[in-house]
Amino acid sequence: MSRFIPPRRTIMTPGPVEADPRVLQAMSSPIVGQFDPVFTTLMNDTMERIRYLFQTDNHWAYPIDGTSRSGMEAVLVSLIEPGDRVLIPVFGRFGYLLTEISERCGAEVHTIEKPWGTVFDAAEVTEKAAEIQPKLIACVHGETSTGCLQPLDTIGRFAREHGMLFVVDAVATIGGVEFRMDDWCVDAVVGGTQKCVSGPSGTAPISYNDRAEAAMQGRKQVEKGIRTDADAEGDVTRRIRSNYFDLTQLQDYWSPRRLNHHTEATSMLYALYEALRVIQEETVEFRWERHRLHEKALCEGIRAMGLELYNDHDAKLPVVHCIRIPEGVDDAAVRETMLTQFGVEIASSFGPLQGVIWRIGSMGYSARRENVYHVLFALEAALVSQGASVVRGEAVQQAMKVYERSPVVS
Ligand SMILES: Cc1ncc(COP(=O)(O)O)c(C=O)c1O
Repeated sequence: MSRFIPPRRTIMTPGPVEADPRVLQAMSSPIVGQFDPVFTTLMNDTMERIRYLFQTDNHWAYPIDGTSRSGMEAVLVSLIEPGDRVLIPVFGRFGYLLTEISERCGAEVHTIEKPWGTVFDAAEVTEKAAEIQPKLIACVHGETSTGCLQPLDTIGRFAREHGMLFVVDAVATIGGVEFRMDDWCVDAVVGGTQKCVSGPSGTAPISYNDRAEAAMQGRKQVEKGIRTDADAEGDVTRRIRSNYFDLTQLQDYWSPRRLNHHTEATSMLYALYEALRVIQEETVEFRWERHRLHEKALCEGIRAMGLELYNDHDAKLPVVHCIRIPEGVDDAAVRETMLTQFGVEIASSFGPLQGVIWRIGSMGYSARRENVYHVLFALEAALVSQGASVVRGEAVQQAMKVYERSPVVS
């Protein structure tokens, strides 16, 4: 059987994107045992770097082994008890994912919805929260399905003042868009690694504070076989309904007790640690600015081509750029030409936006000047080959001007 050798692609989707070469290299390091002091030191260092990523002083900051939604499941199943009231503002596909997970946890879920392509005024959320008095508000920060960014700070402050927990999906934003967990009164957050963090998919950094930890009190039950006399038997009726995602047991693995829960995904931790090192070297503030620069270059290029941005407003997510597919253009054929002729991948969308917009990401290691030129060039060529009416030769020129004018090194 022949060896699988993946082609080199320019990945300009909203995730997964290209991993930083340093991360890929770290993944090929030898395995060490999960209780080896070398490894447990790495675990502690990773926790410290996750705190920096989320801009928090929380003690609890560690990864869940699984894709980003595993982090969401872990947080929600550990915080929600059947019958708890949960409020979810939905403004795209991933708001529905929060709804779906919360329902499976047995919550009484209340949603408010906005048309796709818009976000909420904080007052719309806080008024609904005042009316239904949820235990928890769960909200997406960067909605990749629509390219919109929901401001969080006012909602967070309201939740804090009214004794509600505020849980945030920052999967798409973390490491690329401003996020301040403590300042914005976020009680629990989940990040993604395969987007602005520049790693592979398969691990989900989370953090939560003392308020969130207090909500799990009385629900802990260490599984039989590893339970000791010191472990309370716990109330089985209240126990967290997932073993794998039980944060109370995972805490015991991510603390000096090192409870033998699951087998840690060693190579994934190497990857996350290296990705976080890259972020700290660059600083989060610089990364937020760098992502803004690539957004500007890409969007000016798209406009110069005569295309319309679907999310061209104040609530635009800086790392996802949605283009209205011009009338009469074959969505799939354009993407196929870009991939097969130029090795450039962009994304379609979901639900009501399928066939209506393309989504271009500029995230993490993929957010580079040459990638921006490459995607603009490939898109223009694919559209021309489809007979679409576009302004030729201007897009890359406009993007170049943005970089020439910018003091930010890209
Ligand atoms: C905003 C958002 N939340 C959650 C997810 C789910 O992440 P995963 O596919 O890694 O489980 C995604 C994935 O694209 C996302 O964009």
